[in-house]
Amino acid sequence: MLYSEKVMDHFRNPRNVGEIENADGVGQVGNAKCGDIMRMTLKIDDGVITDAKFTTFGCGSAIATSSIATEMIKGKPVSEALELSNKAVVEALDGLPAHKIHCSVLAEEAVKAAVKDYYDKNHIAYDPKLFCE
Ligand code: FES
Ligand code: FES
Repeated sequence: MLYSEKVMDHFRNPRNVGEIENADGVGQVGNAKCGDIMRMTLKIDDGVITDAKFTTFGCGSAIATSSIATEMIKGKPVSEALELSNKAVVEALDGLPAHKIHCSVLAEEAVKAAVKDYYDKNHIAYDPKLFCE
C-alpha cells in the first residue's frame, strides 16, 4: 500500500476544510515544485489558535497534510504552531511516499505564513529568521 491508512482517511475525510471569516491570520503559499496552492486561515485568541481552516488546490497528500496540520495546531499557542515541521506532519500521518514529501512542506509553510500575518497585523515583534526558508 503506497499510502498509510491515516493519509487515506484525511484525504477522503479532510478535517477543517473552509475559510474562517474575519480570520486573525491568513496564509497562502504555493509549492514551487508542483504549482499547488494552499490557503490557511486562523482564529487566534490571546495568542492561542482556537480555530484553523484550510483550502487547497493540490494533490491528495497536500489535502491530508493540511488536514492533520490543522488538527495539530488547534488549541496551541502560536509560538508552538510555528514549531510544526513538515517532518512532524508526515510522522503524524504514518509516513508519505518519498516523492510526496514536498507536499507536506505546503502545510508547514501555510501555517507559518498565517502566523506571520497575525504578527504583522497586530504589530507583534518577531525574529525574521522564524519565517526564513
Ligand atoms: Fe503538489 Fe502534492 S503534488 S502538493
Ligand atoms: Fe532570511 Fe536567513 S534570515 S535568509
